[in-house]
Amino acid sequence: MYLTKDEERAYDGEYGWTLQKAMQILVTIGDLNNAERLIEIESAHVSGASYKTIGDAYEFIARLDGRVAVRTTLNPIGMDTERWREMGISEDFARKQLSVLAAYKSLGISAECTCIPYELSQPKGHIAWSESSAVIFANSVIGARTNMEGAPSALAAALVGKTPLYGLHISENRAATVKFRVNAEISDADFGAFGMLIGEITRDRIPLIELRSQPSVSELKQLSAGIGATGAVGMFHVKGITPEAELNKDIEEVIDIESSDIMCYDACCEPDVIAIGCPHCGISELKQLYEMLRREQAHAHRDRVRCDFFVFTARSLIRSSSDPATPHRNTSSQMTGSNGGINNETERIVEKIERFGVKVFCDTCFVVSPAFERFSCVMTNSGKLLRYAPLMRDRNGKDRNRKGAEVILKSTEECVRYAFHSHL
Ligand code: F3S
Repeated sequence: MYLTKDEERAYDGEYGWTLQKAMQILVTIGDLNNAERLIEIESAHVSGASYKTIGDAYEFIARLDGRVAVRTTLNPIGMDTERWREMGISEDFARKQLSVLAAYKSLGISAECTCIPYELSQPKGHIAWSESSAVIFANSVIGARTNMEGAPSALAAALVGKTPLYGLHISENRAATVKFRVNAEISDADFGAFGMLIGEITRDRIPLIELRSQPSVSELKQLSAGIGATGAVGMFHVKGITPEAELNKDIEEVIDIESSDIMCYDACCEPDVIAIGCPHCGISELKQLYEMLRREQAHAHRDRVRCDFFVFTARSLIRSSSDPATPHRNTSSQMTGSNGGINNETERIVEKIERFGVKVFCDTCFVVSPAFERFSCVMTNSGKLLRYAPLMRDRNGKDRNRKGAEVILKSTEECVRYAFHSHL
């Protein structure tokens, strides 16, 4: 791979060990993928931030000596940084998790821990993101360009401010080759299940999807997460919706999808918890959830939900940050429907949601926190959770043989109804 003089100096270690290692990672990946050169990136997003998943490997990050060259965000961590005691997180886990966060922050990485960095700002050019759901959403819906980075390559790209030019950074590699014709009205949680089906079928082929009606941003998020949960493909196109949907010159296969193909994901268990926010809820989803809770409360004639109910979101969406490294949201975002001062408004909505007995946690999620391992049957609107909750294990605790949770996939409305009535 061609390197500029400056890149060569970094590769040879003239700018220190950390930058040298980062360059070596990028060059190795570039060579393996026949990349011609490195290209500049607008931002990076690094996964592998929960102590539950990375364990003591964070000590390696703590030894790095450098600063990220572009705005860099982190994926969810193992706890809400302000309310971890309320989550039942142990002092020991919290101490280690805060050390992980401190290690990343010392590199100049934002303490914003969320899997929806695209709701904080929407880059249009080349980026280096890990977290499959965010990668797929960024490529498909925003029109940014990123390969499916792993945590080390995303961190290396963040430190160098560049990534190898290959894969989804190149226009010709972004065309669809398989078409899905959906012969049914699908909505809400169906998109997560549909995404999982697409991921299983396409593997690494890029799909073009024809839908009967226009999906919402929330549904596109669920679609992205579902595809990422089962497939290796980094993007999709939706006819008439996504910015590059016309990139479909060589369709090799057309697959018809009926409603019976999608809506068949139910476990036979009694839900002991409801989880919404995988991927993290955006502002419009929080507002919709509040309206659903309000309506259902009126029908149920009771003030609070009957079972544990958790919602996950990004802190800066609900509160103005005092952390200078935290990126500002794109305030003109159609995605968030935001305008000046909306953080206060959203904070009030979160307070109102919590009055129903629902807990809204930031920085974390159902899968990457140990706090939710005690549940055995989760009702959710997330296809990704359908895939990952059964794999949840008590990796660091005593109960290493414990199985993960079973999952019941329902629409957000059905989850709310169940929360108040204990039946659908
Ligand atoms: Fe995000 Fe956690 Fe789901 S990282 S996509 S909420 S598993």
